[in-house]
Amino acid sequence: MSKSSAQPLEDMRLGEIAVLLPGATAVFRRFGLDFCCGGDVLLADAVREPGVALDQIVDELRRLDQSAPSSHPREPAALIDHILERYHETHRRELPELVRLAQKVERVHASHPDAPIGLAVALEHMAIELETHMQKEEAVLFPMMRMGPQPMIAHPIARMRLEHDDHGERLRELETLYRHGRLPEDACGSWQALYAGVKKLADDLMQHIHLENNLLFPQFATDLPATPICPGMANPG
Ligand SMILES: [Fe+2]
Ligand SMILES: [Fe+2]
Repeated sequence: MSKSSAQPLEDMRLGEIAVLLPGATAVFRRFGLDFCCGGDVLLADAVREPGVALDQIVDELRRLDQSAPSSHPREPAALIDHILERYHETHRRELPELVRLAQKVERVHASHPDAPIGLAVALEHMAIELETHMQKEEAVLFPMMRMGPQPMIAHPIARMRLEHDDHGERLRELETLYRHGRLPEDACGSWQALYAGVKKLADDLMQHIHLENNLLFPQFATDLPATPICPGMANPG
């Protein structure tokens, strides 16, 4: 058993628990706890805002099997490969179809009181932001990581963490626009497929950010040098 697993769960950070316990991220999602961008917050503090009963969530976490195998590697090079294949490629494959579906649903159901007006544009913005961000990781940060720890890596990591915060903000806007997945009773097949796709995007993106913020980046943790050494990360593309 690891040192951190002996700590009371209440006193651990959400990101630590998500790394330690396979299945914890699904519990956090169900209770509305932000384990990716908000991964530095202690569980006891995180439950206050959504008003979740701390005992209940600790009980659910304790029931998870700590010995269950993770669905992802931990070693940096293998973890980067996993992130590229499972998340970067998936976002690129699925987002354009979600934009098309959202445009169709908004057009066909424009007069419906529950139509998700604005969702297509929000998804387009998300696709552009994510593409720019992923290109920076692929062209600069991940190649640096494959060369091993080095002081200058702190700046691109800090930059990517800030952009992850922005993605989290966009995700909250998306979740409001699609009414947290609540479909009207007369929703057509396209509408149902759209909401299922947005939910999958949200789940994937939170897991993607969690793996980078809480598992990959901490393996290269260094203090920021006094001056930025890697200005290329500040510019899109
Ligand atoms: Fe990424
Ligand atoms: Fe990222």
